[in-house]
Order: sequence, then C-alpha cells, then structure tokens
Amino acid sequence: MANKKIVVGNMKMNLTAPEINKFLKVIEKKKYNNQVVFCPSSLYLPYFIGKGYDVGIQNIAAYENGAYTGEVSASQAKSMHLDYAIIGHSERREYFKETDEVVHQKISLALKENLKVILCIGETEEERDSLKTYKVLKKQVTNALKGFDSKELKKVTIAYEPIWAIGTGRVPSNDEIQDTISFIKEIVKGIASINISVLYGGSVNEKNITTLNQIESIDGYLVGGASTKAEKFMKIIEVVVNQ
Ligand code: 13P
Repeated sequence: MANKKIVVGNMKMNLTAPEINKFLKVIEKKKYNNQVVFCPSSLYLPYFIGKGYDVGIQNIAAYENGAYTGEVSASQAKSMHLDYAIIGHSERREYFKETDEVVHQKISLALKENLKVILCIGETEEERDSLKTYKVLKKQVTNALKGFDSKELKKVTIAYEPIWAIGTGRVPSNDEIQDTISFIKEIVKGIASINISVLYGGSVNEKNITTLNQIESIDGYLVGGASTKAEKFMKIIEVVVNQ
C-alpha cells in the first residue's frame, strides 16, 4: 500500500512564465494522489490550480484584507481553492523580519480559512554550533502554535529546515534528523496531545532522497532548488511515493 508521505515543492522566486510552462508539460505526465504539493510563485498559481494537484502559496499576509499593497490574504488564497500555505519560512523570517508573533498571526488567519499550514522552523549554524538547536526549535514551535486546539493543529504540518542546510548542499545525518523530528513531535504532543506530521527540508535532491527516505519518523520533504527542475523533482517524488 502506498505510504502517505508528502513532497512539497517550494519553488521560491524562481522560473519565468515560459519556464513554468515547460515544467508543467513534464509534470503533467503523472498523477500525484495528494502526496505532492506545488508551491510556485503566486503569479503562476492559476496554472496549477484545478488540475488535480495539491497547490500551496509560499506566504500569506498577516492581515485579513484591505490596503496592504502587494500582499495576498488567506481568504484570497482559499477563494482560489489553494490547499496549503507555507508560513514562517526562514527566508521570510530573515529578509522580511517576520517574528514568531507574525508567524502565529498568519497561522491563525490561514486556519480560519481552512487552509492547511506548513509551518517552517529551523536553527542557524551558530545556534547549532552552540548546542541551542532544541531550545530554538521549542521556542519557535511553542510561540507559533500556542492557543490553537487539537482540531486546528491537525491542519498543521511542521517543516524542519535547518537554515545552514538550505541551498548549501549540506544535510544533517539521518540520526540527527530522526532525533530532531522526534523532539518536535514530543513538543507538539505536550501542547495538544496530537501526532503532528513533520517534514524535512534543506538541500533535498534526487541523489540524497533514497538515503533520507530511510528515516523512520519522517512524514515527507520540503524541497527548494530541486523542485524547480521538473525531472529532478519527479525523481524525488518517485522515490517517496513508491517506497
Ligand atoms: P533547498 O532545497 O534549495 O535547500 O531549499 C530548501 C527550502 O528552503 C525549502 O523551503
């Protein structure tokens, strides 16, 4: 029986419209069975919607609606039939100064609209070196998820993305990932007594996916760079879906 792991492609601010069309032509050859989530740049979301794919937005506004030039609200995302919203990506936290409070507010708006949330957390290299990883993750998870009940939290998936592993080709060992994921699951059990799904993200590619996929507690992957290359992304999907 097929497993239920998911593969999420966070395409970030990559690809032009012609490149997206080429990408679509390659991926259209397969059915994805709700195990794959495409998160292209917001501009291209309509190309993916209504084709039987699960689709997510890379970010939503921290406000419900109104005069916020350039922003996209949770209700707008829902009204376009999107399935997921990625919230709290480290690039949003770093470059757009998103605090834990903003992340919490965005989760609250997404859940109100019944969007599934992919909450990103992760430590910097400096935090890792000074053995603060668990402390940092606990704070990020607690601040983001406090106050939500177990029914709401069932709509949340956590993506553990060590910041030092994003776009660097460096990946923690399977044992490290396993331990960290178990730790994150324990924190959420402490908050709401539920089994939360946890994805790994950070330099996942078509070469390391078979090794990563041996990690027992993992519920899927958040893929950046490799999700922008259709053939590479399909290889990753094949390994995960057919395990
Ligand atoms: P890379 O796969 O390019 O390291 O990016 C990971 C990421 O940030 C996904 O959200």
